[in-house]
Amino acid sequence: MEPVLQLKNLKKTIGRKEIIKGLSFDVYPGEVFGFLGPNGAGKTTTIRMLVGLISITEGEVVIKGTSITKNFEKAVQHIGGIVENPEMYKFLTGHQNLVHYARMVNGVTKERIKEVSELVGLEKRIHDKVKTYSLGMRQRLGIAQALLHRPSILILDEPTNGLDPSGIREVRDYVRKLARKEGLAVIVSSHLLSEMEMMCDRIGIIQNGSLVGVQKVTEFMNEERFIRVQFQLNDSTKAKTVLSQQFPELVIEQNDKGLELSLENEMIPKINASLVKNEINVYGIVQLTKTLEDRFLEVTGGNQIG
Ligand SMILES: Nc1ncnc2c1ncn2[C@@H]1O[C@H](COP(=O)(O)OP(=O)(O)OP(=O)(O)O)[C@@H](O)[C@H]1O
Ligand SMILES: [Mg+2]
Repeated sequence: MEPVLQLKNLKKTIGRKEIIKGLSFDVYPGEVFGFLGPNGAGKTTTIRMLVGLISITEGEVVIKGTSITKNFEKAVQHIGGIVENPEMYKFLTGHQNLVHYARMVNGVTKERIKEVSELVGLEKRIHDKVKTYSLGMRQRLGIAQALLHRPSILILDEPTNGLDPSGIREVRDYVRKLARKEGLAVIVSSHLLSEMEMMCDRIGIIQNGSLVGVQKVTEFMNEERFIRVQFQLNDSTKAKTVLSQQFPELVIEQNDKGLELSLENEMIPKINASLVKNEINVYGIVQLTKTLEDRFLEVTGGNQIG
């Protein structure tokens, strides 16, 4: 499948400060991609470049095969985006707001306005004034507005900010539905891992303008059965002999620091006990791989170790 959106080594420098330091990732049709990072990580800056609100310092953004720097008009037709809170006229109805925005876009029909209202589940309230809407409904009206011109990718910067749990759920459900039913590619940013897990197919973590990791949510939930661990020992050769006899299924790699093993967590004490019993000195047991959650906790300061 062809990606809808490609970021290729995207960079942004403002003044002398490099804020975005070379981001690369692809987003596919029907996929919800979560852009996760703490405050100040660079989510909004990246999104502003994607929708053409600020210039790109270096690198490229390609939307359905068209580079936004080379052919902005054509590329941007495929994007529906909400960067700041959508401005709505509170004393007009949801429908009147959509009609108003439709005037600024070519070829939006009455039917399309009805269709987008239904897509975000506002059909019953669309003729009520926006001032009577909950915050979640206003967000959904914003999404409806962004969908008017039939974009292939929807870009939402912190769409659940300020919503209560039921509002968050509304937005989440509609975002998922749009991706699944309409084949829309969606990028949503957030600083909440738990929320991203429920809404997204893949999550990319951004910290200080760099991508720390990209991972599928399914892998993310059941990963870490196997971890990579280094045993620092006084006699690796003897340890290797002992362990391969006692645990024949283990894949053991010997290097100048000791032994490296891929194993389940529960194996660590068993191996340690076996080494000690065989009078091998264990100087350290170090976990080498990290889960996306570990990395996120590290970048957000949730992990105080070290
Ligand atoms: N116009 C600007 N001039 C100077 N620095 C800027 C400018 N815009 C953003 N920054 C800096 O770039 C960094 C990234 O900001 P950005 O708003 O993209 O982060 P964010 O991930 O969206 O954060 P938040 O979760 O708070 O919305 C911050 O350190 C910010 O201070
Ligand atoms: Mg932001």
